Amino acid sequence: MTTDVTAPTRTLRAGFVGGGFMAAVHSRASRAAGGGLAGGASSSPERARSAADRLGLGVAFDSVDEMVASPDIDVVHICTPNVTHAAIARAALEAGKHVICEKPLATTRADAEELTELAASRGLVTAVPFVYRFHPMAREARARVAAGEIGRLISVQGAYLQDWLAAPLDDDWRVDSALGGPSRAFADIGSHLVDLMEFVSGDRIVRLNASSRTVYEARATHDDIATEDLVALVVELGSGAVGTLLVSQVAPGRKNALSIELAGSDASVRFEQERPDTLWVGRVGMSTTIERDPARISHDAARLSVVPAGHPMGYQDAFNAFVADAYATINGGSPEGLPRFEDGLRAVRVTEAVLDSAASGDWVEVSA
Ligand SMILES: NC(=O)c1ccc[n+]([C@@H]2O[C@H](COP(=O)([O-])OP(=O)(O)OC[C@H]3O[C@@H](n4cnc5c(N)ncnc54)[C@H](O)[C@@H]3O)[C@@H](O)[C@H]2O)c1
Repeated sequence: MTTDVTAPTRTLRAGFVGGGFMAAVHSRASRAAGGGLAGGASSSPERARSAADRLGLGVAFDSVDEMVASPDIDVVHICTPNVTHAAIARAALEAGKHVICEKPLATTRADAEELTELAASRGLVTAVPFVYRFHPMAREARARVAAGEIGRLISVQGAYLQDWLAAPLDDDWRVDSALGGPSRAFADIGSHLVDLMEFVSGDRIVRLNASSRTVYEARATHDDIATEDLVALVVELGSGAVGTLLVSQVAPGRKNALSIELAGSDASVRFEQERPDTLWVGRVGMSTTIERDPARISHDAARLSVVPAGHPMGYQDAFNAFVADAYATINGGSPEGLPRFEDGLRAVRVTEAVLDSAASGDWVEVSA
């Protein structure tokens, strides 16, 4: 069943934690979804005021605790460094708020499991922004796979390549496990790659073998860096299909090159998020590139197409659709494909298996 992503039935009052890149993206998406921007909190009252002024969040709360306790907030968006997610999400859920928490949901499996159970026991709506699911042509790929167009899945190939940490002195809080958690490249972007591949294929990784590298152990402001710059993976899926995935933040020239390709017995599909308005369908006789055209794509892909064919859509549009679907779910709808805390937990479990395999060199089973 689907609902129209543009039709929320009740104005939700949204509070935002953090004031950086993601708080800006979330707050734009909330506004587009008809949310009421009702407050912000950050690492200090001054930073909260700055974020509230820059992003138009209204009230600047002195602390996260004060914001989650406010009766004027319905849903909390968590847009802070990774290690802070679990405690903020727990406080928000315990205060009875719906929660949209950035990935990784948590930096330990125990925390991710506890949060998922807590949300279920309170009957609250949760979501994790695996937003590449919200590109219409990713949905089109999923619809075609589900309809049997590619036949029996044989292999998968995927990559998520970036270069913003490719120079030796490039730096960020993410390289520090005390803020980013034990995995960097995989938790940060590999989690998106696996989520998208599993979402489109309808299949799941059951075993994997990972090899990782920390290319630069010191950067401008960090020494003894233990988090990985890149991971190469061989995977086996529940269906018996096999695949390879490469995740790197040190790939010169690659900005945000997320791609997945599924090869079946009858056809292949390939989606590249830097060219999100197209889908490649490969066949032995003739391959085609399909352009996004709401009149000619599946219902679920068409409902996410907010502008006609030939009018390019992109990352913020996908994010807007994600938040609109999260709000529609809070308002009692059940739109297709909203990534929930269960999906965030899944990503944490896959990340844990990647770290285990990279450390031991062994194949590791991924718990369901
Ligand atoms: N879903 C996506 O597509 C996507 C993309 C980029 C980042 N992310 C995730 O979003 C999160 C935030 O990333 P970002 O790029 O916005 O980071 P950022 O560094 O731009 O912003 C982080 C913000 O959090 C605030 N902050 C730090 N510690 C805090 C604390 N203890 N309490 C409250 N506020 C605190 C900082 O002041 C800052 O405003 C990360 O977990 C990252 O993995 C997701």
